[in-house]
Amino acid sequence: MKTVIKLNVNNVEHELFVPLHKTLLEVIREDLGLTGTKHGCELGECGACTVLVDGVPLLSCITMPVDVQGKKILTIEGMGSMSKPHPLQTSFTELGAAQCGYCTPGMLLTSKALLDKKAAPSRDEIKAALSGNICRCTGYLKIFDAVELAARRMHDHDCCGAGGSACHGGEVPA
Ligand code: FES
Ligand code: FES
Repeated sequence: MKTVIKLNVNNVEHELFVPLHKTLLEVIREDLGLTGTKHGCELGECGACTVLVDGVPLLSCITMPVDVQGKKILTIEGMGSMSKPHPLQTSFTELGAAQCGYCTPGMLLTSKALLDKKAAPSRDEIKAALSGNICRCTGYLKIFDAVELAARRMHDHDCCGAGGSACHGGEVPA
């Protein structure tokens, strides 16, 4: 059985006709072709499938699309671009915080939600925010370092050259 759903993903409105049983993760990857959001455990335990819904990290593998209609969904494809990466994407690259990269989209989006809420989180706050995102490669320290570096740069506006509230950290504008 199929149904029509309307989703706003990365500031683009989509109307889709999809099977009722499909999760948000499956719709994002298979119907929208946005494969940056990763299939991991599909049990809500690894964080690989994280997207932001109205700015809050959500596990798309255990979310039904109908429940996020009318909300703004951000996937890694909307977080930055090759020409204008988000400061977190830059710092992850510079510090080697991504190795195989499978956890990285979820790590980046969860980190973005944290920095949007708190400009200068402590190391413990970063650890707590990322506690639901599992990485098998890095040992986490480089990830924590990269979040702190991005936070410093965003605070100083090294990322955009703007001042005050003009900094959007590279996010694709609405
Ligand atoms: S794939 Fe969703 S939490 Fe692991
Ligand atoms: S970089 Fe490989 S799982 Fe995190």
